[in-house]
Amino acid sequence: MGNMKLTLKIWRQNGPNDKGRIVDYPVNNVSEDMSFLEMLDVLNDELVRKGEEPVAFDHDCREGICGMCSLFINGEAHGPGRGITTCQLHMRKFKDGDTIYVEPWKSAAFPVIKDLAVNRNAFDRIQAAGGFVSVNTSGNLVDGNAVPIPKDDADKAFDAATCIGCGACVATCPNGSAMLFVAAKVSQLSLLPQGRPEAKRRALAMVEQMDKEGFGNCSNTGACEVECPKQISLEHIARLNREYLAATVTKE
Ligand code: SF4
Ligand code: FES
Repeated sequence: MGNMKLTLKIWRQNGPNDKGRIVDYPVNNVSEDMSFLEMLDVLNDELVRKGEEPVAFDHDCREGICGMCSLFINGEAHGPGRGITTCQLHMRKFKDGDTIYVEPWKSAAFPVIKDLAVNRNAFDRIQAAGGFVSVNTSGNLVDGNAVPIPKDDADKAFDAATCIGCGACVATCPNGSAMLFVAAKVSQLSLLPQGRPEAKRRALAMVEQMDKEGFGNCSNTGACEVECPKQISLEHIARLNREYLAATVTKE
């Protein structure tokens, strides 16, 4: 336990139809070595001891992999710091006596389930629309080394594949656009030979599903790239636009 004292201003919302409000919570005994989520654990422990409802928030891996921890902290997606998720944010980024606002992603396409937890099934539906390959990936496999891939393409595909689907790009974008997420998922596959057979169908289907889900349009503000914990480059959006255009003009 440490000795930082903080005031948390946390978004509380009983369910999707509740209006929601900010509630103040003092929290003591915070160590600068705690992660932000561990600090919320301290608060929830106190709330449970007092017989109050703990704050609902999402988390799973707590090591920057799963994309579940998704909080607006003092108005920044995943809080202060670049290239990290909320679970990788440490309390040493804050000072004793600080007041910290903690809110969920606010996007029409990500409705609040409860408090700080939002429903990101829209991302799953976009992924299901085309974010896969149908080449044989089990059984009689071709040796990976038998398919030469330029190093530059492999590196770019790998960078795109680091997207963890957290939704910070959507939450940060003034238009609520999901372009960085969709671009990462399209790039990851379209840059590799295994992803080319379905490239056209994939770009069309994923963009169509993105539009159906109610995400906004991309106007190249670049906020998504700044707040993305995996630092996915806007270059992937340019690639998605090229893939989509090529698919549109050559559509049968
Ligand atoms: S592009 Fe970045 S911000 Fe958007 S979902 Fe992927 S990891 Fe999260
Ligand atoms: S809890 Fe998995 S990325 Fe933060």
